Amino acid sequence: MKSINIIGAGRVGKTLGRAWHSSGAFCVQDVLTRSLASAEHAVAFIGAGRAVTVLAAIRPADVWMLAVPDGQIAETAAALAKAVTRRAKAGQAAPDKPSTIAFHCSGALAAAELAPLRELGWQLASAHCLLSFADPTAALQQLASTPCALEGDPLALTALEPAFESLGARCFGLAAEHKLLYHAGAVFATNFLPVLQDLAQQLWQGSGMPTEVAT
Ligand SMILES: NC(=O)c1ccc[n+]([C@@H]2O[C@H](COP(=O)([O-])OP(=O)(O)OC[C@H]3O[C@@H](n4cnc5c(N)ncnc54)[C@H](OP(=O)(O)O)[C@@H]3O)[C@@H](O)[C@H]2O)c1
Repeated sequence: MKSINIIGAGRVGKTLGRAWHSSGAFCVQDVLTRSLASAEHAVAFIGAGRAVTVLAAIRPADVWMLAVPDGQIAETAAALAKAVTRRAKAGQAAPDKPSTIAFHCSGALAAAELAPLRELGWQLASAHCLLSFADPTAALQQLASTPCALEGDPLALTALEPAFESLGARCFGLAAEHKLLYHAGAVFATNFLPVLQDLAQQLWQGSGMPTEVAT
C-alpha cells in the first residue's frame, strides 16, 4: 500500500485522510498542521498517522497531499522542497523516490503551484472534489459520486485517480489553463445558489407570501 503524508489537515485534509484510511487506498503516515493540538485532533479523526508540526520531522512517503489554504500552497511547497533537500544532504533518512507524488486540493490553482517540488523530480497534480467540506463528518458521507477534477503530470494522475475512485468519486481530467474557468463554474453552482434562494425568499416574504410557503 502506498504511504501518504498530509500537510494541512483541516476540513479537506482530515476528511480525505480518514476516507483513504478506511478505503485502504493509502497508509496515512505523518500529519502536519501549524499546531500540535490541531495535528493530534486530525490524527484522532483520521484514525491513523503521527502528528507533527515541523517539516524536518516528516518522513519520506510515496504521496504528499498539501491541503493547506490556497494562499499557503506555493510557500508550503517551497518550504517542503528545502526540507527534503536539506535532509538528503545530511543523509538523515532514506532518499525520497523520484516517483514521489505531491498534489494540492485547490479548485482554482494548477499543479504548477507546487513547482519547487518538480526540481526534486517529483510528479505533481491538483485534485479538487466538488463538495463542501464545511462539516467533515457530513462530507465523508457525500464523497461517493462527488465529481473530482484532476490535473497534472500523467504519472501522478495514474496513482491519484484510483485513490479517489476508491472513495466513489467521479474523476475527470482538466487542462491547467481551464482551472479558473472550472472554478468560476463551481462558485456559481455552489456559492451562488444559496444566495439566489435567499434573495427569492426575501422578495416573496416582502410580497406577503407566508414564510413557510416561501421557504
Ligand atoms: N473547504 C472546502 O469546502 C474545500 C472544498 C474543496 C477544496 N478545498 C481546498 O482544500 C484546501 C484546504 O482547504 P480547507 O478548507 O481544508 O482549509 P482549512 O480547513 O482552513 O485547513 C487548513 C489546514 O492547513 C493548515 N495550515 C495552514 N497554513 C499552513 C502552513 N503554512 N503550513 C502547514 N499547515 C498549514 C492548518 O493548520 P491548523 O489546523 O494548525 O490551523 C489547517 O490544518 C484548499 O486548497 C481549498 O481551496 C476546500
